[in-house]
Amino acid sequence: MPMKIHIDTRRILGKRNPMIYGHFIEHFHRQIYGGVYDPGNPLSDEDGLRVDVLEAMKKIKVPVLRWPGGCFVSSYHWKDAVGEKRVPLFDKAWRVEEPNTFGTDEYINMCRKVGCEPYICTNAGTGTAEEMSDWVEYCNLPCEGQYAKWRIENGHPEPYGVKYWSIGNENYGFWEIGAKSCEEWGRLVAESAKMIKHVDPRTELSAAALTDVEWNMNLLKSSGMFLNWISIHDYWDPIHETNDFADYDACMAYTEDIGISVKKVRGLLEALGLEKKIKIAYDEWNLRQWYHPNVHSVVQGVTKEEYLYPRDKNDINSQYTMADAIFTACFLNMCNRNCDIIGMANFAPIVNTRGCIYTYEDGIVLRSTYHVFDLYVNYLGDVVLDSWSEENPVKVLKTADGEETEVRQIDVVATAFAGKKGYAIAAVNKEKGDYQNLELDIAAEGVVNVYYIGGCGVNAYNDIGREEVTVQRESLGNYRPGMKICLRPHSVNIIRIGCGDY
Ligand code: AHR
Repeated sequence: MPMKIHIDTRRILGKRNPMIYGHFIEHFHRQIYGGVYDPGNPLSDEDGLRVDVLEAMKKIKVPVLRWPGGCFVSSYHWKDAVGEKRVPLFDKAWRVEEPNTFGTDEYINMCRKVGCEPYICTNAGTGTAEEMSDWVEYCNLPCEGQYAKWRIENGHPEPYGVKYWSIGNENYGFWEIGAKSCEEWGRLVAESAKMIKHVDPRTELSAAALTDVEWNMNLLKSSGMFLNWISIHDYWDPIHETNDFADYDACMAYTEDIGISVKKVRGLLEALGLEKKIKIAYDEWNLRQWYHPNVHSVVQGVTKEEYLYPRDKNDINSQYTMADAIFTACFLNMCNRNCDIIGMANFAPIVNTRGCIYTYEDGIVLRSTYHVFDLYVNYLGDVVLDSWSEENPVKVLKTADGEETEVRQIDVVATAFAGKKGYAIAAVNKEKGDYQNLELDIAAEGVVNVYYIGGCGVNAYNDIGREEVTVQRESLGNYRPGMKICLRPHSVNIIRIGCGDY
C-alpha cells in the first residue's frame, strides 16, 4: 500500500525564514584554528581563510553563522582578540590555549566572504552587561566612543551592523562557566538587553533558554519585552562522554522526538501572548553530541589523554553516515512545518567535530549532512504548504536505551516558490532496506525531477578519497494525477514538479 500524500496548494502554512538553514562555529578543537582559519596553508587566502571551506559554505548558501561559542564564550573576553596586541590566554571552558588571533574582525570578514549574517553570542558567564554592550559599540556605532574608534583604528571605518546577538549560551547548565539561577538569569538578560538596545536599538536579541517552564517563565517575564528570539539547543544522541554512536535504528527512533522542544516552547510563548513577537532560534542542534569527555563533569580529567586527545575522535569521518543525513532531513522538515515560530536554526558545528564539512591539510570532505543542506537550500521551495497523508507505514524500532518505539517511516514536507512556478516536496524514507511508494495528490503540471541522496547502505559515508553519499538526479517525465514515486531505502528526496530544471 503506497503512502498517499494530499497537498492543497492553496493552503499556505507560511514562508520559511532562510535562516533555518543556518550554522554554528565555535572555538573548539579544529573548527576555527586548523579548520576554517589556517594561515600558511596553501589552500588559504590572504586572510588565512580556507578557500575550499568558504566555497563549500557558499554552495549551501549559509544564511547565518553563530559564533564564537558555545561553552567557549562563557569566559571569553572579546577585547583580547581585537587590534594589534593579541594575547594568548587559557580558555577555561575547554582547557586549551586560545591564541586570540581569530577575533571579531576576522569573523566579520569571514561572514562577508561567505555572504552570511553574523550572529554573535555574548559572554553571560563571566561577562557583564557592560562588556556585551561594548562589543555592540565596537561593531555597530559609526564613530562615537572608544570602541567604535578602535574598530576604525583597526582598519574598518564602516560599522559592521551586526543585527543578531545572543545573550549567553547554556547559562542554565552546571557545566557552563558562570551558570545562573532562574532569577539571576532573568535580571542579567533584562539589564544586558537594555544596555545593548541603548547602543543600537536595531539589534535583534536572543537569550539562552531551554524547555524548562520555570526558567522560561522567569526569563520571559523579566526580559520578554526586549527579546526578539528565544534560543534553544538539542543534541539527541547523548555521547559527549563516550563517543558511543547510536546505530541506524536508534537514530530513526530519535527522529520521533524531533519536534518536542518546539511544541513546549511554542506553548509557553502562546500562553504568554508572545508567539508573534518572539521566534525560536534553535541555535545549536545536531543528532550527535560532541565528544569531549572529562570536562563537563565535576571531576576533571587530569592528563591530556583523559580530557584533550579524545576530542580527535570527533573527526573520524566513517561515523557520519546516512543515519545522520536522514535525521538532519527530518529536523529540517520539522523547521519548515513550524516556520511560523522557528526563524533560525544553527547546525552545530559547520566545520570539523560533528560538522558537515571536514578539513584536512590538502582538502575537504563533505559529509553526508552537507548534502542534505545542499538539497534543502538549493532545491526546496520557500513557501510551506499544508499537506496530510494516508497510510504512513510504521515500524517498531529500539531506541538507544532498548525501548521499543513506533517510528513513522516517511516524513514529508511540501513547498511552493514565491514568485516562481512549480512545487518541491521533501520526502524522507527512513526504511532501512525497502523501497516505499509515495502517491502524490497535487494540482500540478510539468516535468517531475527527483534530487536525492541515498548512499549504498545505511552506513555509507564520505572520507578522503571516498564518496559514497552524493546528490543524484532522476527525471520521471510529466506529472500525472495519482502518480507514484518510488523512494529508495534510507533516502532523502526533493521531488520537483514543473520547476523547469533540466
Ligand atoms: O558539546 C559542545 C557544546 O554543546 C557547546 O559548546 C555547548 O553550547 C553545548 O553544550
